[in-house]
This record gives sequence, C-alpha cells and structure tokens, in this order.
Amino acid sequence: MNQYAYDSSVKPLTVNDLAAMKQRGEKITCLTAYDASFSALIDKVGIDMMLVGDSLGMVIQGHNTTLPATINDMVYHARCVSNARRRAFVIADLPFMSYTTPVVAAKNAARLMQIGGAQMVKLEGPRVEIISFLVDQGIPVCGHLGLLPQSINQLGGYKVQGKEPVDAARIISEAHQLQEAGAGLLVLECVPALLAREISLQLSIPVIGIGAGVNCDGQVLVLYDMLDIGISKRPRFSKDFMQDAATIEAAINAYHQAVKQSQFPTAEHSF
Ligand code: KIV
Repeated sequence: MNQYAYDSSVKPLTVNDLAAMKQRGEKITCLTAYDASFSALIDKVGIDMMLVGDSLGMVIQGHNTTLPATINDMVYHARCVSNARRRAFVIADLPFMSYTTPVVAAKNAARLMQIGGAQMVKLEGPRVEIISFLVDQGIPVCGHLGLLPQSINQLGGYKVQGKEPVDAARIISEAHQLQEAGAGLLVLECVPALLAREISLQLSIPVIGIGAGVNCDGQVLVLYDMLDIGISKRPRFSKDFMQDAATIEAAINAYHQAVKQSQFPTAEHSF
C-alpha cells in the first residue's frame, strides 16, 4: 500500500470541487477502476475521478458487451475501489435493467452508495424522471449520452452518435433536460468533437468526454484500454499510454498531464 493512502490530510473531492474546476477552466481527469490496487495507484497519481464502470462486464469478466454486469458485481467492485481511494471522486454505474423504475433505481443506487461507497451514480440515456427522483432522494447522478453501450442491441453497433443535424439537436436537448433534472455531471461518449464542444459550452455542469474531442470539461478512458492490456481491440478514441512509459504509474501520469494540458485527445482520437 502506498504511503499516500495513510495521509489523513487528503480529503475526497466533492461534486462542488468538480463544478469549481469547470468554472476555472481546469480539465477534470477520470479513469475507470475496478479494484483496490489500481484505485490506490490512480489516486496517488492525482486523477480527479474514478468511474467503476459497467465496462467491467467486458474488461474484467470477458463478455462482449456491458449487459451481463449485475448490480451485485457493481457493488462489489465499487467497494474494492472505494476502500483504497483517498482523494478521487468515485462514481459507480447503475448497470443494465437496474433503473427500470424510480424506486428500483433508488434501491440500487443506495446499495452503490451505502455498501459500494460511491459518491455518485451514473446511468445511461435521457431518463429524466429517474434522475429527478434520485436527485430528490439526495442521490447525486451523472448522466450519459451519445453512444449508450447498454443499448447496443438497439443501436446495432459501437458507432459515433449525433453526426446528423437532427441527432445532434436531440442530444443537445437531452443534455439540457438532464441538467434541469438535477444531474451533476454528464458523460458524452463517441460524438463529434464540435457537438461535444457546443454542449460543454451550453451546460453549467461538467461534461466529461470519451471519444468526444478535447473541448469537453474533462476526459475519461477505460483503464485497460489506455494501458493496452484489454482483451479486445483498443477503440480509436483511446490511446496506448504505456507505449512511452516505463511503468503503469508513469502511463497514468502521462494521461493525467496530457488531459490537464489539453493535449489529449488529439484529432487522431476524435471524430
Ligand atoms: O462503463 C464504462 O466504463 C463507461 C465509460 C465508457 C464512460 O461508462
């Protein structure tokens, strides 16, 4: 265990700290995390947020999609990550079919927070009624628009979303609806960089991009993709940060610095 983990002067970031970072134009860094050892390392580097993503269904469990990840899996991994973090803000995904009604969503979100130690839950799609209900119960929510991996069987593949003007307008409208429903953050996945830039400018809440260009308020990547240890092909919007790094810690630090200095993603990693 690293020494940093025992420094009691280090306090966890809050949703207000993240909002203040957007206000002052400081980029927010985020990586997915699924276990205590990586959580401690990511936290030690100074990454601002960790997302316990349902991508664990793919990178940890070896499935082809995120759909098989269950709420029990998410609670277990959220707990592993929360146990080792000191500063980073921890978000956990509500997995497929775990937020079919407001009450079901609240029950599952409570487990992610009470047992998993998450500070916020993330859910996919323009689920305004669910978000509003969760926020009313005191549960911080992160929205997720653009490519929605839990809807992959409806979308028909992992494709860039919002390329047509009508789709771009719909995503902008949904982003405003989520903010009005009380979402504290928004993840935008696989959308054109210009669309993500527009949404980041229009919203007051931080917008975190993945495959959404450099002009979002922050960036998230799947840890195993950026360390190039995933079992499937690395997506075009991700980057192998291990290529020029001697250690995993150095690779995570290179990502952290590149995002903070708006040097990642480049056009090569954007649409
Ligand atoms: O599950 C996950 O890792 C995610 C990111 C791709 C944003 O939702």
